[in-house]
Amino acid sequence: MCGIVGYIGNRDAYPILIKGLHRLEYRGYDSAGVALLDQDLKVYKKAGKVSGLENFVKDIPLKGTAGMGHTRWATHGAPSDRNSHPHSSGNRKLTIIHNGIIENYATLKEALIEKGHEFKSDTDTEVLIHLVENIQEETKLGLKEAVRIALTQVIGAYAIVIMSSEEPDLLIAARKGSPMVIGVGKGEYFIASDATPIVEYTKNVIYLNDNEIAIISRNNLLIKSIDNVVQTPYVHELELKLEMLEKGGFDHFMMKEIYEQPRSIRDCMRGRIYPQQGRVQLGGLKEYAEKLKNIDRIIIVACGTSWHAGLVGEYLIEEYGRVPVEVEYASEFRYRNPIISEKDLVIAISQSGETADTMAALELAKDKGATIFGICNVVGASIPRITDAGVYTHAGPEIGVASTKAFTAQVTVLTLIALYIAQIKGTVSQSKLITLLTELNEIPDLIEQALKHNEEIKTIAAKFKDARNFLFLGRGSAFPVALEGALKLKEISYIHAEGYPAAEMKHGPIALIDEEMPVVFIATKHSSYEKVISNIQEVKARRGQVIAIVTEGDTEVKKMADYVIEIPQTDEAFLPLLATIPLQLLAYHIALMRGCNVDQPRNLAKSVTVE
Ligand code: F6R
Repeated sequence: MCGIVGYIGNRDAYPILIKGLHRLEYRGYDSAGVALLDQDLKVYKKAGKVSGLENFVKDIPLKGTAGMGHTRWATHGAPSDRNSHPHSSGNRKLTIIHNGIIENYATLKEALIEKGHEFKSDTDTEVLIHLVENIQEETKLGLKEAVRIALTQVIGAYAIVIMSSEEPDLLIAARKGSPMVIGVGKGEYFIASDATPIVEYTKNVIYLNDNEIAIISRNNLLIKSIDNVVQTPYVHELELKLEMLEKGGFDHFMMKEIYEQPRSIRDCMRGRIYPQQGRVQLGGLKEYAEKLKNIDRIIIVACGTSWHAGLVGEYLIEEYGRVPVEVEYASEFRYRNPIISEKDLVIAISQSGETADTMAALELAKDKGATIFGICNVVGASIPRITDAGVYTHAGPEIGVASTKAFTAQVTVLTLIALYIAQIKGTVSQSKLITLLTELNEIPDLIEQALKHNEEIKTIAAKFKDARNFLFLGRGSAFPVALEGALKLKEISYIHAEGYPAAEMKHGPIALIDEEMPVVFIATKHSSYEKVISNIQEVKARRGQVIAIVTEGDTEVKKMADYVIEIPQTDEAFLPLLATIPLQLLAYHIALMRGCNVDQPRNLAKSVTVE
């Protein structure tokens, strides 16, 4: 969602803030702004990207050793200069940046208007800073107490930073439902939505908890609960490295992240698989081995790409672990009074670990007594902090808004969980586990081979870059891969694309097929190979254009398809990990050829912390 960054110390704040905003821009890029406290409080903000803000302020001397910055993904109020953050109070003495949604903003606003407050924007955020101002006016309280009282009146989710020109040695930060990290330096503190703007200055961070308020001055940090009880913060050491946040010679983060997959999958499996012994070890789930042995049902909740990973997980866990699995959109699950009991295991999959719907689905499951697990990429995020147990994907920071390496890492973790359950329950023989784990261990090398087809994929992309629609078809565990291929293409190239189980085509989508319709088939040599070939023939009979992902050396599909992209042979269990790679590359090249911003597609944000 929105990205927030703050600094207080002895250095010039602006360079730290602007660099931080570039790092956080993946969270939203509708507008950007900064506020700096020197003799007085100055606010600069602009609709559009962070580079637009930089351009806007380039001739202004920007002074101040305390300040804050914001990059916005619009919720209340269209993207515009006046709706950009920071927002100021009526007396211009206070300013705020906010990530989240104040749900009762309309009621609060009405009451404030009656008291004479005038608003300049359409945002919920501006209401909150007027509320603080109003409390100060009525009670003469200092900033920290006024903010605390204001927050007791607010319903919704927030991560906020507030500054006041009357208390220049102070930043107030608070969180409820939206992430916030505080970096601890020497005589200086950093605040951000995630650790990426902080890592080059300090490795020591504190993750603020929900309903906590941080009162930060240059030499002191005090954390209190919203009920005014002093908290003892825990200082974590960051594992994040600076080079993980740079493009490393690639033109885009997305391409870097596609090429990182052999490494990210190796990291994900490291210390977790022992192929020669046919053994999987998942430290995070160890205490739950007995539970997993006897579990009646698993429900996977997730959104978007993570939901697609969940569908792959369903195939794998049912195939090997022999446990019934249901995969639910978190946003639907949370609102439909689902039947859950303490016998169920609910697994949330989330790259960011912050997705509001996934979080709410987990909370609901927890309230109903289920055991809850998380599969997350961001260490210390909200989801891993509320789950009973979990497995991190260890894919490293994913900056491209379209998920690539996080998806394959999620699928890898689900594969490990499926085989771990199989091991505990004895549903797969030891010799089969040895075979499967030996092959899984080779997947990173096979992905390297799959990536070698990049140039051919680029040529195919050039042929189809002007297509208006695309269909992606696959069967079995290749069906979620088809969904993911379609999502990747539509989100970064803005071409309409749909994924379907190949056999469903004849029940409707076949009506769309003509010579203008490219159809991508996952047609590898696995259990449904012959059936997929029949589906390809059905498309060719209607003059559709076929691009087929095939197993290396395939000759049969080659005779029918217009274009083929080869991937190495692998066990069917690991097909999703390999077949996804060419689809990511296809989407990337098509988007690039259409002049789209592949790292920051329009209207999207990386971390969706609102419902
Ligand atoms: C698409 C994409 C999104 C996310 C979804 C859930 O490329 O990245 O569909 O998968 O917003 O996000 P997380 O996994 O952070 O919960």
